[in-house]
Amino acid sequence: MRRGFKNPYGPNLGFWAVFLLVTVLLLSGALWVLSFVRGTVVSAAEDEVILNQAYINYSTAGDYVSAESNAAIQAYIAEFPQPQNAQILTGMTTSEIWSFMTAYVAGGLQVDCTYCHNINNFAADGAEIGDDTVAARKDNARLHLQMVADLNQNWLTQLAAIEGKQPSGAQVICATCHLGEPIPTAWPEDLHALPDDYRLPLDNLDVLLVTGNLDVSLDAVQYNQHTMYHFSESLSVGCTHCHNSRYFPSWEQPAKYYALTMLQMAQHIRDNYQDTMNGQEPSCYLCHRNEVRPPGAAQAEVFLPEVLRSSYSPEE
Ligand code: HEC
Ligand code: HEC
Ligand code: HEC
Ligand code: HEC
Repeated sequence: MRRGFKNPYGPNLGFWAVFLLVTVLLLSGALWVLSFVRGTVVSAAEDEVILNQAYINYSTAGDYVSAESNAAIQAYIAEFPQPQNAQILTGMTTSEIWSFMTAYVAGGLQVDCTYCHNINNFAADGAEIGDDTVAARKDNARLHLQMVADLNQNWLTQLAAIEGKQPSGAQVICATCHLGEPIPTAWPEDLHALPDDYRLPLDNLDVLLVTGNLDVSLDAVQYNQHTMYHFSESLSVGCTHCHNSRYFPSWEQPAKYYALTMLQMAQHIRDNYQDTMNGQEPSCYLCHRNEVRPPGAAQAEVFLPEVLRSSYSPEE
């Protein structure tokens, strides 16, 4: 503004500017809430996508379970009200296992029961199934059931250390990684502008600690940048979601602690389950898919069988 220039609108302009700003903010806040409510109810129906309320932003709608499989499971439940070979899903009736299989296993991968079962005998394993590929999938699925319990019970629970509870209490389940695909891809080619061979630094998480360390090489700095970029992109957040922008090494944002725990969890997944993921290394994107709350995670533990919940402990 030129010196000596007199504002013809006087101080009123400032008042109106603030008034307008506040109005716009309040209005857009109200519209956001409206569109949020509508988004989960109305527009979901407009798109003919019926979101399953047990999940974060995921629909199990579809015809992937065949009529034959549905008939076979009814006959199986009548014959065996108690399961014959449930090694992980203990303490459940056959009917409860059926509901779980439908909503979370077949529903998570969007496949028919025959993807993993011989529907003449749902308890069969290995050679009894009569098809090596199907038998291998059932074995793999059992290991992934075990992984789900492990991640919920030994890793998500660690997120509670900072505020006395898990951020939202969401739980890992099959769809958290599979999201309706039998074969999910942890590092899709179109994910980002990072080098193709970039992976999380799971061999040595210390390489991320570059600030204030005068010894670090340019490579380490670049590796840190790639990793931070992968974090930001996978969750669709800026650096300040996790960092104090005036001092990056500080820890006052809970999300930074959550992210470090998640990084250690990714290391645990790689060390213990990489063979069951066809050699794929985990990424943050595998679960987060550009969201802070991973789509395909269960909203809360009440939706899952007790043995898979964060709160479950085998000693009880
Ligand atoms: C992705 C693989 C997969 C798919 C798809 C799948 N299941 Fe399963 N199912 C398993 C695994 C693994 C077990 C063993 C769980 C355990 O050991 O606790 C199992 C166990 C069962 C059992 C318990 C059988 C017993 O007596 O021990 C039933 C019943 C069952 N499934 C029904 C179904 C039905 C019905 C469908 C389709 C709606 C289905 N499953 C889809 C992997 C699968
Ligand atoms: C941490 C992420 C993650 C979770 C959680 C997860 N999976 Fe997987 N799963 C994968 C990845 C990655 C693959 C490997 C895909 C490939 O072959 O490249 C895979 C492969 C599989 C396969 C083999 C598919 C095939 O045709 O070879 C089955 C079956 C399977 N998962 C079942 C399950 C079930 C059932 C659950 C829930 C109890 C589950 N998974 C939970 C990541 C996960
Ligand atoms: C999802 C959370 C998250 C996001 C988003 C994120 N960071 Fe980080 N950042 C971390 C974690 C966790 C560490 C590692 C701390 C450790 O290893 O002890 C870290 C480490 C760093 C470090 C090394 C110093 C330190 O804080 O320990 C720098 C510098 C850094 N990040 C910069 C960035 C920049 C720039 C962005 C945005 C492009 C970004 N970060 C985005 C979580 C995040
Ligand atoms: C196996 C699936 C999985 C993988 C892989 C994963 N996350 Fe998560 N993450 C979750 C789930 C589920 C939650 C929600 C926990 C809750 O709400 O209580 C979560 C929550 C978070 C949160 C807290 C969000 C909030 O509410 O503020 C951060 C930050 C986060 N993850 C960062 C990461 C980063 C960084 C990576 C990669 C190193 C990663 N996650 C990998 C499943 C995963």
